[in-house]
Amino acid sequence: MDFSNKTVLVSGGAEGIGFAIAKALGLQGMNVVLGDINEEGAREAANELKTLGVRVLVIKMDVVKPEDWFSAVGLATSEFGALHALINNAGVGGKPGPIEGNTLADWQWCVDVNLMGVVQGMQACVPTIKQSGGGFIVNVGSMAGLLGVPFGGEYTATKLAVVGLSEAWAVELAPFGIHVAALCPAFVSTRIHLSERNRAETHGQTVSRAQIELPPEDSMMSQVVTNGIDKDLVGSRVVEALNQKEHLIITHPNYRSAVQARFQAIDSAFERAAKSAIVGHLINEPLDAFVPQ
Ligand SMILES: NC(=O)c1ccc[n+]([C@@H]2O[C@H](COP(=O)([O-])OP(=O)(O)OC[C@H]3O[C@@H](n4cnc5c(N)ncnc54)[C@H](O)[C@@H]3O)[C@@H](O)[C@H]2O)c1
Repeated sequence: MDFSNKTVLVSGGAEGIGFAIAKALGLQGMNVVLGDINEEGAREAANELKTLGVRVLVIKMDVVKPEDWFSAVGLATSEFGALHALINNAGVGGKPGPIEGNTLADWQWCVDVNLMGVVQGMQACVPTIKQSGGGFIVNVGSMAGLLGVPFGGEYTATKLAVVGLSEAWAVELAPFGIHVAALCPAFVSTRIHLSERNRAETHGQTVSRAQIELPPEDSMMSQVVTNGIDKDLVGSRVVEALNQKEHLIITHPNYRSAVQARFQAIDSAFERAAKSAIVGHLINEPLDAFVPQ
């Protein structure tokens, strides 16, 4: 992968996984654009990158707003001349809990940031990356995009969608020299469990920022996240995987058996359909033209 002097826009780059990827790519010689709803955090992050010799631009943006995306692309290209890569990373943890515990506003928040934020990032950046002659896009999914997570319906829905879309976009954009990958980490030690801090009034935030109730440190979600792997491992792994042109980037090989069990269940469902008195005769039909072979 050609990183040197190319430019990458990282959404949600102020901290966590986004910042770790921005740092890893900056150390490969990329110009880094940190786009984040938290401008102050992004400025602090940029200062850290500058001390490492990385050329960096900070843009305040909310991935939910299309106008923020288009202005980010304009600012990035006027600062660095072109845009070659996108890390579609900004995301929120949603509101874990039983189905009936989630309001439509909870769902809308998670879908707007985690799914539509990614879609809008693609719509704003792909034309410019095409004009630059190609590059790469990493959409941040999750292990929850490979395994349904009980009591995490809204998060699972958005991450499964991001993984599926990335598979489709990888095929669509290959002819333009754009490599598309989905990153699927399990737990990484970040502040994802405190995502409510980034929830806007438009998405059901009813109290002021100072009054937001965050989960206690000893809650199960706080503990599994804080016991997650170091985010810098994720940054380095992304560089390694891009160099190897991987389309699905795994950071937790220990989850293999759980994902294999899901694939096995899917395969068994095909086996049963092949034996079905109703649809079994379709077994030797050719695949439809749009299916990647
Ligand atoms: N931490 C994990 O265990 C884990 C595991 C799998 C996937 N992920 C995914 O990684 C991505 C990054 O999460 P993280 O763990 O670093 O979380 P984090 O909360 O530590 O960081 C999220 C960053 O995104 C920014 N952000 C949030 N909403 C935004 C918006 N509307 N517009 C712009 N910026 C916004 C925040 O300000 C913050 O800088 C997310 O997509 C998340 O779903 C995280």
